[in-house]
Amino acid sequence: MTTSKTNTDSNKTLLARRAQAVPQGVGNIHQIFAAKAENATITDVDGKRYIDFTSGIAVVNTGHLHPKVTAAVTKQLEQFSHTCFHVLMYEGYIELAEKLNQLAPGDSPKQTLFLSTGAEAVENSIKIARASTGRSGVIAFSGGFHGRTYMAVSLTGKVIPYKTGFGPFAPEIFHAPFPNALHGISTEDALNGLKTLFKSDIEASRVAAIIIEPVQGEGGFYQAPKEFMQALRKICDEHGILLICDEVQTGCARTGKMFATEYFGIEPDLMVLAKGLAGGFPLSAVVGKKSVMDAAAPGGLGGTYGGNPIAVAASLAAVDVIEEEKLADRANRIGEIIKNRLDSMAKKYSCIADIRGPGAMVAMELFDSKHQPDTELTKNIVKLAAEKGLLLLPCGIYGNVIRFLTPLTIEFDLLEEGLSILEVVLDELN
Ligand SMILES: Cc1ncc(COP(=O)(O)O)c(C=O)c1O
Repeated sequence: MTTSKTNTDSNKTLLARRAQAVPQGVGNIHQIFAAKAENATITDVDGKRYIDFTSGIAVVNTGHLHPKVTAAVTKQLEQFSHTCFHVLMYEGYIELAEKLNQLAPGDSPKQTLFLSTGAEAVENSIKIARASTGRSGVIAFSGGFHGRTYMAVSLTGKVIPYKTGFGPFAPEIFHAPFPNALHGISTEDALNGLKTLFKSDIEASRVAAIIIEPVQGEGGFYQAPKEFMQALRKICDEHGILLICDEVQTGCARTGKMFATEYFGIEPDLMVLAKGLAGGFPLSAVVGKKSVMDAAAPGGLGGTYGGNPIAVAASLAAVDVIEEEKLADRANRIGEIIKNRLDSMAKKYSCIADIRGPGAMVAMELFDSKHQPDTELTKNIVKLAAEKGLLLLPCGIYGNVIRFLTPLTIEFDLLEEGLSILEVVLDELN
């Protein structure tokens, strides 16, 4: 798949410049430089075209440069690009907050605060929870990922590469086991782990919040069972603990519902959003019960760029597109197509140990012949697929999971074409 070359420097030259100019700590999955993108395809600086099964990690759910998002951004650029909401307010911020307050699960009145990144929204959700409860403790889950800033990485339950060399971390953070049947942790085990924490590490009455991803993203696309989420809600209610759902990766129609929390029939106290919220622009949000959100004193929340007008304009358009184009339903259709194809590949290739995930948040987990996580094979599949024009992403605590995060607007023939490339790759590597 080759189209015309668009940039002056090649991948090879840019990689050499990158090695000199940028630290290795900024990891790269693919050794490729982007030049141009449209919906579900990306063309690199050498003119090679790729089918994008990554969406920049679940960000461009509405596709690369959706015309409506581009038009909204262009229009906003003709008005103003920045005032800082703390200095001069603008209507878009309010309109988007109203929209998210209305869309968020549960009947309680809601409020929304805007920030720029997922980690920043996570940080703010903890500040709000502490201000609201007057308590300090926070419980997160092993295998969870909440970002790279200090509070967010303290909450993250995966050491390599996120925590290595960066300690000490924020105090009063505790990790409980996440239910993961494939790796031997039942819902009962996970709930017992939480009870043990209350006995051995922190009494429930000192816990401000429990933060959880409804489907662990970076950790490997493990969905929390409904009975576990409902039990968490009950435990939180019993002990006056706030439940925070980190929907940074699962939100914005990715899982076949606007928010993955909707699968559990519960109302979180706070919800954290980012990624798919603004169709490729940096915007994050904390959406929560008004009674909780209003606890922080004036001036305690926000930041210079939080709710930037361009990102807000992009988000208003992206949320419209999600609704108008019924992208939650489309996510389910995409997920079915991927899972059907993977199911038939699993019959041929025994390395595929598990296929899972709601909506278009699909993963396949790879085991070796001894039924152990196969990290090497996962890396090789990602590499070879890229060589053949398909961009994939690995994840998982053992790095042995491939996650499928196509734009929710991907053309179905392109989706099939990408899956056929994967099949050829599996064939070559098995
Ligand atoms: C569930 C979850 N929370 C938080 C984050 C952090 O978001 P950001 O990278 O925008 O800081 C991520 C990013 O992958 C995530 O998946």
